[in-house]
Amino acid sequence: MSPSSPTPGTNQSWGGRFSEPTDAFVERFTASVGFDQRLALHDIQGSIAHATMLARVGVLTDTERDAIVTGLGEIREEIERGEFQWSVKLEDVHMNIEARLTDKIGITGKKLHTGRSRNDQVATDIRLFLRDEIDVVEAELARLRQGLIELADREADTIMPGFTHLQTAQPVTFGHHLLAWQEMLARDHERLLDCRKRVNVMPLGAAALAGTTYPIDRHVTAELLGFERPAENSLDAVSDRDFAIEFASFASILLMHLSRMSEELVLWTSAQFDFIVLPDRFCTGSSIMPQKKNPDVPELVRGKTGRVYGHLMGLLTLMKSQPLAYNKDNQEDKEPLFDTLDTVRDCLKAFADMVPAIEARKASMYEAARRGFSTATDLADYLVRRGVAFRDAHEIVGQSVAYGLREKKDLSEMSLDELRQFSEVIEDDVFEVLTLEGSVAARNHIGGTAPDQVRAAAQRARDALAAMRDGRP
Ligand code: ARG
Repeated sequence: MSPSSPTPGTNQSWGGRFSEPTDAFVERFTASVGFDQRLALHDIQGSIAHATMLARVGVLTDTERDAIVTGLGEIREEIERGEFQWSVKLEDVHMNIEARLTDKIGITGKKLHTGRSRNDQVATDIRLFLRDEIDVVEAELARLRQGLIELADREADTIMPGFTHLQTAQPVTFGHHLLAWQEMLARDHERLLDCRKRVNVMPLGAAALAGTTYPIDRHVTAELLGFERPAENSLDAVSDRDFAIEFASFASILLMHLSRMSEELVLWTSAQFDFIVLPDRFCTGSSIMPQKKNPDVPELVRGKTGRVYGHLMGLLTLMKSQPLAYNKDNQEDKEPLFDTLDTVRDCLKAFADMVPAIEARKASMYEAARRGFSTATDLADYLVRRGVAFRDAHEIVGQSVAYGLREKKDLSEMSLDELRQFSEVIEDDVFEVLTLEGSVAARNHIGGTAPDQVRAAAQRARDALAAMRDGRP
């Protein structure tokens, strides 16, 4: 049989050694084109670079290269216009595009695959694709951080209760709370940029597993594709998907953080807290209870965290115990990775759009901080400054709080005589520390909640974010 006509019903790219057609179910079961067509533009980008390199080292003629590059450019347009006919018979994105190229330019199309394999091709495609997607995610993450920093700056003086065990602990400023979120995201941002470095390494040239006998120049291809360098080891290059696992791990930690923020937003919009208002455009109503305005966006982000953790577990388990080098198992890397990317991007967009529109219900926050004996520690510190041992001061304040609970009075609402029942050292100046403003202003050191510190921290965060963005590849 001539090489151009393999056994009817087998894949035209590898049917040569087969004597019967692929089982119809197996054809569907093994095909990935239903989802990996999402890699099409990056597949073409990789192929153009590969053909360019092959011509540079003399494996292809310039005429052949030009035919391939032109043909692939036309295919790209067909795909972008939505006209490309994907075929399950051709298994995956790579063979669909290659077959179309051969339709268009004839035998020269078949030369494109010289010196490479789908194994190094797919690993390259995913890395090119993920690198672009990381840049989109990175921009959204930066936009969210910027929004948090500006909101924190505006709310540097706004007082709210700070919590431990979800019980009122000490007053803090809302700006300080927002900057805590910002710190979490700053670390996520670092993790993302760090992950990008390891994504940006080129498998191409590893071919099936051992490299190729053609005189390829991997530095040329790497440079054309903007990769930092060619991967060192061909077996490793075609097999490991740790870079995708690393992205899913970044995504899981990020979503964990977003879920914590979501949880607080959900609590705060409730009538019981009434700390913030989310604009109507980020909420939905109830079909049965007309009064309802539900914080669906943060609730959904909280919920979507689960699927991202699931993808991390899926990818880790996919890779576990795989012998070198490429195994078909790895075809299963794409759907979890794609869904992780889509989820992360949507959640970040939702948050980046929503955060600047958060409206603080300042009076309500203030009142909540006033109700919860949140300046009790300040009274203890006051007593210590007057020579009382901290443990005794703790006991004295405990008694004052018990009295306040009985009399329904906050510490700041008690008269000097009432306070002096518990300690003689208390003087008139105690009221300066019992106020919420006095309490937050006193925590005036780096990392503390004092409004001046929050404004300074916001400025440092702004500078750090700008520096991080300037330093991007
Ligand atoms: N569709 C395959 C994947 O996603 C491409 C590589 C297949 N290589 C092979 N020799 N079957 O992993």
